[in-house]
Amino acid sequence: MTTTFLPVHHQSSSVSGTKHSHVLQRMLSLHDFEAEARRVLPRPIFGYVSGAAEDNRTRDENRQVFDEYGFVPRVLRNVSERSQTVELFGRCYASPFGIAPMGIHALSAYRGDLVLARAAQEANIPSIMSGSSLVPLEDVAAAAPDTWFQAYLPGDASLISALVERVAIAGYRTLVITVDIPVSANRENNVRTGFSTPLRPNLRLLWDGLARPRWLTGTFMRTLLTHGMPHFENSFATRGAPILSANVMRDFSARDHLDWRNIQAIRAQWKGELVIKGILSVDDALLAREAGADGIILSNHGGRQLDGAVSPMRVLPEVIDAVGHSYPVMIDSGFRRGSDVLKALALGARMVFVGRPFNYASAVAGDTGVAHAIRLLREEIDRNMAMLGAQTCSHVTSNMLRRRYR
Ligand code: GLV
Repeated sequence: MTTTFLPVHHQSSSVSGTKHSHVLQRMLSLHDFEAEARRVLPRPIFGYVSGAAEDNRTRDENRQVFDEYGFVPRVLRNVSERSQTVELFGRCYASPFGIAPMGIHALSAYRGDLVLARAAQEANIPSIMSGSSLVPLEDVAAAAPDTWFQAYLPGDASLISALVERVAIAGYRTLVITVDIPVSANRENNVRTGFSTPLRPNLRLLWDGLARPRWLTGTFMRTLLTHGMPHFENSFATRGAPILSANVMRDFSARDHLDWRNIQAIRAQWKGELVIKGILSVDDALLAREAGADGIILSNHGGRQLDGAVSPMRVLPEVIDAVGHSYPVMIDSGFRRGSDVLKALALGARMVFVGRPFNYASAVAGDTGVAHAIRLLREEIDRNMAMLGAQTCSHVTSNMLRRRYR
């Protein structure tokens, strides 16, 4: 099935009359949400979302890499009937992008994981719920059954299998395993802004919260009053630590001993689609496929793990050469524009995941904010496909790209 996406020529008209129309009329691209979210979120929370590891070299590289490619558009190709739909795992998505998993999202927006999942379902794009989250995975599956679930593996085989069983019972069909955190990253920015998990109550935190009254009442107090103190709900099969505590320690069980045998064991247990996220090398892409993964997500975790790691855009062509075009290779890290998404598609990616901008959009305007962000990116893709001379995503190919520098 293909559905034709009709271009919207005047984007501001699409938000008029909604609760947040005033602010959303100023949100003209995904970039715009960041400054607005900084005004809404307390400093440690904004810092946690926006920050990366050590010197942010990888986070910066994730943006710079797109400048290295220029488009070679084709003209006069009758692109009046454009469609940006993509087929993936037997489903037809309305756009070639989805929402990347983001931890602790319910601190950015009230019941944030639900906000993202609902907006994605409404727009018919994939959304991946983070395992490092404060809303029970069952609630998200009930509200948006097509959501994918992303797990960080507990260090112990029996705990892994209990978590996988819980995810299956909740009804998820696509399980994403993130493999780029053998150890926790060095996030100096979190120390500087006073962010930790759990958050430690102190005067500075109180001040940071009081300085953002809309967040304090609309997100934090509303959550506390309606659902009680948020806990890490989905790191294990059972409930984890609270998000705010003077002395509880979160269980960061050691993961540095995990290897491909753990993935093989999950493969034997999990009947749905299995995706490995956090791959940056051709050899690991081949190992993931060999271990039975149905697809991979090339990712450097938005620059949040190994500072100095390459952008996945740099390895995408060689990975596609090795695994072929029929194996689903997805990608994230640094995507902000429709043109970025199209560059990845041209190099062979099947789906692009975008993280932080959707977090900011939900902080700024909840469901409407995320819907607006999805619409902006969708319109950019549509407009750029027309100017590239591409009627469908499969028409966006590597001969439409040139490297600017070699
Ligand atoms: C969680 O995945 C994080 O990167 O903070």
